[in-house]
Amino acid sequence: MIVLKSQREIEAMKKAGEILASCHKEIAKLIKPGITTWEIEEFVDDFLRKNNASPEQKGYKGYEFATCASINDEICHGFPRKEPLKDGDIVTIDMVVNYNGALADSAWSYAVGNVSPETDHLLKVTKEALYKGIEQSVPGNRIGDIGHAIQKYVESEGLSVVRDFIGHGIGTVIHEKPDVPHYGLPGKGPRIKEGMVFTIEPMVNIGMYHTKMDLNGWTARTVDGTYSAQYEHTIAITKDGPIILTEQK
Ligand code: MF3
Ligand code: CO
Repeated sequence: MIVLKSQREIEAMKKAGEILASCHKEIAKLIKPGITTWEIEEFVDDFLRKNNASPEQKGYKGYEFATCASINDEICHGFPRKEPLKDGDIVTIDMVVNYNGALADSAWSYAVGNVSPETDHLLKVTKEALYKGIEQSVPGNRIGDIGHAIQKYVESEGLSVVRDFIGHGIGTVIHEKPDVPHYGLPGKGPRIKEGMVFTIEPMVNIGMYHTKMDLNGWTARTVDGTYSAQYEHTIAITKDGPIILTEQK
């Protein structure tokens, strides 16, 4: 069942989204060679507490951290750790913020120091892919239109879209309907309606789209060792189109 949200509920989620977006803007300033994802984890925990918000991922299905921190060939759900980031790395920080019971979810990939032209291209295409998906998120379109636009664009740039992890409805729990794949066929899937709130969060790989799971049971990485990037926003559908609840202004 897809739960449609009232304007009031969307307003509440927007507040969570604003805190999340400002947290990402602070993280952007911290990222440089030598910093660890453990320091970022501590920063986020602290930042959310100071803003009267809480990290919803911590304790979710046994996940132990406020953030997911996925480095280089890690696609998603990397654990924060005390290993310094190096020049040329990329890192995706993903988090869900709870503010007064309303949630927002946003992941962002960051370049550490100077990255290769190939990595830079990956980051640019992945971010652009997110916005191509958002563009399709208008009432009357179907969920498949989002994935199709993303896949078509990413593949036209010679990169691949991960199939094993997808966007999702979100509200007072992290994962709701609808499922939002980042690949697929136009005109397929549920009709997009005013009041839907969901994430779009394409994970894009330089090489093959296939994933493999680490022994920790959480962290997914590329099978061929190529780098993977991800950008994610939480969006709300209004009659006039999508509003980005996690936009970094
Ligand atoms: N933020 C993630 C998403 O985009 C969910 C993370 S799962 C968790 O769907 F267990 F790590 F919280
Ligand atoms: Co997320």
